[in-house]
Amino acid sequence: MSRQTWFITTPIYYPSDNLHIGHAYTTVAADALARYHRLRGEEVWFSTGTDEHGQKMERAARDQGLEPPALADRVVSGVKDLWATLHISYDDFVRTSEPRHAAVVQALFEQLKRQGDIYKGEYAGFYCEPDEALWLESRLVDGNCPDCGRPVTRVTEESYFFRMSRYQDRLLQHFRDHPDFVEPASRLHEMVNFVEQGLEDLSISRKDVRFGIPVPDDPEHSVYVWFDALLNYLTTAGYLSEPSRFSRTWPASVHLVGKEIVRFHAVIWPTILMALGLPLPDRVFGHGWLLLEDTKISKSLGNLIDPNALVGRYGVDAVRYYLLREVPFGADGIYSERALVERINVDLANDLGNLLHRTVAMVTQFNGGVVPPYRAGLEAPSLRRAAELAVAAVEEAMDRLELHRAIMAIQGLVRAANRYIEDRRPWALHRDPGAREFLDDVLYNLVEALRVTAILLSPFLVETPERILSVLGHDEAEVRWDATAWGATVPGSVVTATDPLFRRIDSHADEDLAEHPSPRGESPEPDAAAVSPSGISIDEFRRLDLRVALVRECVRVDNADRLLKLTLEVGEETRTVVSGIAAHYAPADLVGRSVVLVANLKPATIRQIRSEGMILAASDGDGSLSIVGPWSDIAAGSRVT
Ligand code: MSP
Repeated sequence: MSRQTWFITTPIYYPSDNLHIGHAYTTVAADALARYHRLRGEEVWFSTGTDEHGQKMERAARDQGLEPPALADRVVSGVKDLWATLHISYDDFVRTSEPRHAAVVQALFEQLKRQGDIYKGEYAGFYCEPDEALWLESRLVDGNCPDCGRPVTRVTEESYFFRMSRYQDRLLQHFRDHPDFVEPASRLHEMVNFVEQGLEDLSISRKDVRFGIPVPDDPEHSVYVWFDALLNYLTTAGYLSEPSRFSRTWPASVHLVGKEIVRFHAVIWPTILMALGLPLPDRVFGHGWLLLEDTKISKSLGNLIDPNALVGRYGVDAVRYYLLREVPFGADGIYSERALVERINVDLANDLGNLLHRTVAMVTQFNGGVVPPYRAGLEAPSLRRAAELAVAAVEEAMDRLELHRAIMAIQGLVRAANRYIEDRRPWALHRDPGAREFLDDVLYNLVEALRVTAILLSPFLVETPERILSVLGHDEAEVRWDATAWGATVPGSVVTATDPLFRRIDSHADEDLAEHPSPRGESPEPDAAAVSPSGISIDEFRRLDLRVALVRECVRVDNADRLLKLTLEVGEETRTVVSGIAAHYAPADLVGRSVVLVANLKPATIRQIRSEGMILAASDGDGSLSIVGPWSDIAAGSRVT
């Protein structure tokens, strides 16, 4: 394909009420991807906007005593402010109420009608207002909307239809030929099943909606809100208005959407494009929901979390970091402010903030604030290798839209740099006059690792990378992907001390695990000195009942920053284990993974939870920790001998 622009879209949001953290989630993710591709030197088009027609908007406006356009104007101004607060770098914000969009919708409606893909008929079906979705009776589940389970209302009226059924086979063929078209793969399977049940023609006009785009030559009808909304992607790509940009931009590289609207994007949208003779987007990615406990955060449920307030409390980078790091992108995840605070304290303040602070302090104290020369070869290139691996891992993760993995790779580099300090002990080198050149290399490597970290972080965080670079004596102009290559720090640059990058947030009841610093919950650390030099007998070892266990569920323990509660499947049995590993793993990292459980450890009560065993993890004494597990698939409950 000769397309030159990398084009990413968010859904266009209903401005029926202020947006919440769930909408911010999609938009921040799209922003990180757009920034990443710009960083790589690509031409990027990133669009978002608002979906201002339809019954849902009419009802919301009526409830507030407003006309829909007045409600939309008010909410849209707040949406734009929110995107500014979150530093969303969109190139276009399209409102479906704009004339440029109506022109596209009407022109394409006419084209499809002319070519026989749109015809007039009688619609008899059911409407789900919250989803703005029409259903035939045969698709209802217990008389309710098959997508959301909410009640539907019967509609019988004259309507225009889009001959979607015509495209069923081509669509199935497209799914087969392009297995990456819908991601994650599980969502592709759902779509294949849906289409295999048979595609009906789609009703695409309504008579009872006042605020909609009028059907050309038949203004009694207005265009169905989803047909109208999906076409926004062509409007913003410049269809009709800017043909030369359109040919550079279309098809979209990624439509990023929540999982509940994958069907509109992966079934209805491609069939419309096929009818129009336009190429299909490369990918439709359906991410999961942010949940409060088990319930989706949503306007209709009223359990909104206001991202403005969170940014006010914790800063934009902390909120962006949390949203992109906490939940594996694609899966559902539970929103929790406590988890956000932990991410700030552990990943940002402790790991990243301390690395910068210690590095600047050492360059200041041991070399007068000047980055020393690098004498390649004197110092083993371990940190350089860690940086190169992180760069490659970020590239791979971003190609797969695994944003959380990209951040984990950067975290890995930060931790490697902190370990490097403990390993090389620059303060000891400083005391040894013969180690001057060695110390120079160590300091240079630390500055360089931080510089690379700042560039790698720049798609995700919007203030911190610049701050790191300016502290290190670099400037913003160096933020380019090819500048992640090792060695760009110029010896002689001057570092400057600064305020902490992130301040630790004191969460009141911080669990004091001083006595149990390991993941072992209440059991004491083994006393190395007490291990008999002659070893233990095999019978003694066999007294331990070690089992493979599958993590079924995992949640944080209330008021205990370092504890996770794991629900483990061990053969037929289910066990609960409390483990002090929350500083190293988020619950979502663990679910579905296999661990090794000491199954016959005396149960202990930790934070009023009965913990029935402990899971094994390796730790290297300087803060790194890694859970131990089997190398290949093996049944939960298997004995470890
Ligand atoms: N207007 C349609 C989209 C048309 S696109 C051509 C719409 N709007 S919406 O306002 O309801 O926004 C839905 C989108 O917001 C979801 O697809 C998802 O991207 C995001 N989210 C809304 N609530 C969410 C969560 N609780 N969690 C994650 N994302 C959520 O549907």
